[in-house]
Amino acid sequence: MTVKDFGITKDGIATKLYTLKNNNLEISVTDFGSTLVSIVVPDRNNKPTDIVLGYDDVSGYETDDGYYFGCNVGRCANRIARGHFVLNNTEYNLDINNGPNNLHSGLNPYSKRVWTVENQNDTSITFSLESPHMDQGFPGALKMYVTYELLEDGFKINYNATPDKDTIINVTNHSYFNLNGEGSGTVLNHSVKIYADSFTPADETSIPTGEIEAVKDTPMDFNNFKTIGQDINKNYIPLKYANGYDHNWVLATAGDVDRTAVRLVSPETGICLSVRTTEPGIQIYSGNFLDGTIKGKGEIVYNPRTGICLESQHYPDSPNKPQWPSTVLRPGETYQSVCIYGFSIAE
Ligand code: BGC
Repeated sequence: MTVKDFGITKDGIATKLYTLKNNNLEISVTDFGSTLVSIVVPDRNNKPTDIVLGYDDVSGYETDDGYYFGCNVGRCANRIARGHFVLNNTEYNLDINNGPNNLHSGLNPYSKRVWTVENQNDTSITFSLESPHMDQGFPGALKMYVTYELLEDGFKINYNATPDKDTIINVTNHSYFNLNGEGSGTVLNHSVKIYADSFTPADETSIPTGEIEAVKDTPMDFNNFKTIGQDINKNYIPLKYANGYDHNWVLATAGDVDRTAVRLVSPETGICLSVRTTEPGIQIYSGNFLDGTIKGKGEIVYNPRTGICLESQHYPDSPNKPQWPSTVLRPGETYQSVCIYGFSIAE
């Protein structure tokens, strides 16, 4: 483990960048937001390649305007319709920050706070954050833990929390992957396989209709490898509404962390990423709203579709969809969510 200064926040707090390394990969994370800043893996010619979008220091993450590069999004990732839900007969209202809806819990995200380092060693680091009762509008205080742990050919993110009152929780990592190397053009040539027979169609504001729809014979079918670019511009309503891929797939793995949920492969570098998760769904977002105004690492401009997010999570708007896997967490229960990223090189 190496530790470097990552810059001082506007409030004068000194942040750090922690790097964990083994023979196969290196990841760097900061206590600002518990954010994943870089993942460096060798390409097929052994060239070290940083495969996630981000910024060079804390000021970029602090001024980030809704892109959430590498962030752990909580307390409830994704959209909640009209920023409103009912729990135990009580109505709760959240910030409206995305059209008429709440996105990624609103204007005071976990990703813009400085987290505490609870534990660190050569292979793992645990951050924690105290989230009080009514933080972002959610009931119940909880202490959120995020652990990054190096594995031989990848790494694991583990989320944990226990509330003191009934609450809602759904945490995910929002890294934008580009397996050609961050800052090197679009991800449209990446091949993807998603182990899912259905997805949750949504309205124009990306709120699921509540249906579960088969992917067969639609551009949403990634059961056989195909490139992100192959169908992305097809005249298909879900793609038009979301300006590309920005949808939740219902994973056939159904929370089995031993089974692969998604594979992503770059034909250029040969880098392959596999995702496994305890979560029932994955939001796959093809960076449609990266608009070429953002300067990321090394002052490189991030244009549309230059990164893809693979966000393991419960389905969007679950607090308003009682028929779906529940995002309610009660005192005495422990929230646990695991996402494992594995790396290899294509033959
Ligand atoms: C959402 C996108 C949104 C992005 C913000 C994703 O999780 O699905 O619609 O634009 O987050 O960075």
